[in-house]
Amino acid sequence: MPSSRTRLFLSIFLMSLLAAAIKRSSLNIFSRPIAQPVTSRAMHVQSIPMWEGTGNNYAYLVTDDKSKEAVIIDPANPPEVLPVLKEKTDSGAIKLSKIINTHHHHDHAGGNVEILKHYKLPIIGGKDCSRVTTTPDHKSQFHIGEGIKVTALHTPCHTQDSICYFFEDGSERAVFTGDTLFIGGCGRFFEGNATEMHKALNEVLASLPDDTKVYPGHEYTKGNVRFAKKVLNNDAIKKLDEFSQANKETQGKFTIGDEKQHNVFMRVNDPNIQQLVGQTQPVEVMRTLREMKDRS
Ligand SMILES: *[C@@H]1O[C@H](CO)[C@@H](O)[C@H](O)[C@H]1NC(C)=O
Ligand SMILES: [Zn+2]
Repeated sequence: MPSSRTRLFLSIFLMSLLAAAIKRSSLNIFSRPIAQPVTSRAMHVQSIPMWEGTGNNYAYLVTDDKSKEAVIIDPANPPEVLPVLKEKTDSGAIKLSKIINTHHHHDHAGGNVEILKHYKLPIIGGKDCSRVTTTPDHKSQFHIGEGIKVTALHTPCHTQDSICYFFEDGSERAVFTGDTLFIGGCGRFFEGNATEMHKALNEVLASLPDDTKVYPGHEYTKGNVRFAKKVLNNDAIKKLDEFSQANKETQGKFTIGDEKQHNVFMRVNDPNIQQLVGQTQPVEVMRTLREMKDRS
């Protein structure tokens, strides 16, 4: 039987343990940051895959998080795009303000008429785009909500009305390139020539900040890598090969800086490529690469 003295010591000991525990837990409460600042991005990009398995197109819904103002880029297949838009406009998650088109081809601007039946919106796009209301001048700018600044970049070649759109929200940068620049490739020269594609890729787009994320109009990466590997062997192409084998979608995962490493059409000054194609003039390298890709 413990003595009363032992019992007293024991209860004092237990009480001090309890006090320490209370003190520790209350300290934890006070040391926890009370209002964690939410570092939300102003620019939110949602990819909407269209014609998966055939055209492998992408429409993009870009939202300014603060104001909820949103634009839809190349909503070419309304049955796949409208349900996404409806859900978000009906719930008040976005306020749709514009359709933006990268060029007039049907698999980019061909949904405009149908979208307009559901939303009364202006259409920003190249001069030949269906129902276009405004064609922005080269390097002209407009805003989406409070955060996003858009710069239109004319890149004629795939079509004469091709426009890339450079989006900035201060900390984040993205470029929507339609069929001008793909991850690891470029569009066919349907309405233009090698001089124009060289300018589009290696002057206009190459001058964007290296950390600009690339959002192209199609998921063509696997085929582009297959061709790139025949032309050049470098670590960046190996990495892109591995990534495209492991990931179905590659849009927004690579930057302009990455393209300068793994995109052979942006490496027209690479001596190894020049030797392979038997040309040294950048425009001639571009022309030969495109002809080889068209035949491949
Ligand atoms: C390429 O197209 C541009 C613009 O149409 C034209 O001025 C130029 O002469 C063309 N170059 C060649 C080599 O065809
Ligand atoms: Zn096209």
